Amino acid sequence: MKNKIYFLLTWLMLVATGCSADEPQKESTETPQVEEPEEPSGNRKILVVYFSHTGNTRTIAEYIHETVKSDLVEIKTVDTYTDDYETLLAQAREEVAAEYCPPLETSVENISSYDVVFIGYPIWVETAAPPIRSFLNTHELVGKTVVPFCTSGTSSAEASYNLIRSLCPQSEILEGIQIRRGTYDTAYERIVAWLQEIGIVELNNGV
Ligand SMILES: Cc1cc2nc3c(=O)[nH]c(=O)nc-3n(C[C@H](O)[C@H](O)[C@H](O)COP(=O)(O)O)c2cc1C
Repeated sequence: MKNKIYFLLTWLMLVATGCSADEPQKESTETPQVEEPEEPSGNRKILVVYFSHTGNTRTIAEYIHETVKSDLVEIKTVDTYTDDYETLLAQAREEVAAEYCPPLETSVENISSYDVVFIGYPIWVETAAPPIRSFLNTHELVGKTVVPFCTSGTSSAEASYNLIRSLCPQSEILEGIQIRRGTYDTAYERIVAWLQEIGIVELNNGV
C-alpha cells in the first residue's frame, strides 16, 4: 500500500512538472538522426564560393564543401574591411546604397568548368555583402545552377536572393538556406537535409 501511494505521488509530481508554465520550453535543437550522404548526384562539378568577414559563413561553406565534395574558394577583396563594427556598418550602408562593387583579389579562372555554384555571404544591411555583387559581375554564370546560402542576424534573406536572381538572370537559382545567429548547433543537420531537398546530394539507401 505504501508503495502504491509512493508511485502515485511520484507520478502526480511528474505530471505537474510537465505542465508547469515555468519549465523552459525545449527548443527544437535536438540533433536529428542524419543519414550519411553519398557523393553528389550525377557527375556535376560543384564550386562553393563564399565571402566571410568574421568566419560564420566560412563555417557553413565548409559544411557544404565537405558534404557535396566540391571545390572551395574564398572571395577576398583588394581592400580588407575594417574590424571596427560601427565604421564597417557605415561603409556597408554606403556601399549597398551605391550598389558599389569592391574590387576583388579573387578570380575563379576556371568558372566555366562548373555546373553548380554555391554562393555564400553574410547579410549586410539587409542584403548580400557587397563583394557578392562584385563576384557575380565578374564571373559568367549563364546556364549554371546557382545556390545561395547566407548567415545573418534576424533579417530575412529574401532581398539577397532577389539580388542574386537579378545578377544571374540566365542561371537556374535553387532555393537557398539562411543560418541565423544562435542556430549554429543545428546548422549541419539542416544543411544536409536542405542539400537533399534541392537534389544536390542523395542518401545512401538502407543506411
Ligand atoms: C556591416 C554589417 C552589417 C550587417 N547587417 C546585418 C543585417 O542587416 N541583418 C542581419 O540579420 N545581420 C546583419 N549583420 C550580421 C551578419 O550578417 C552576421 O553576423 C553574419 O553571420 C556574419 O558573417 P561572417 O562571419 O561570415 O562575416 C551585419 C554584420 C555586419 C558586419
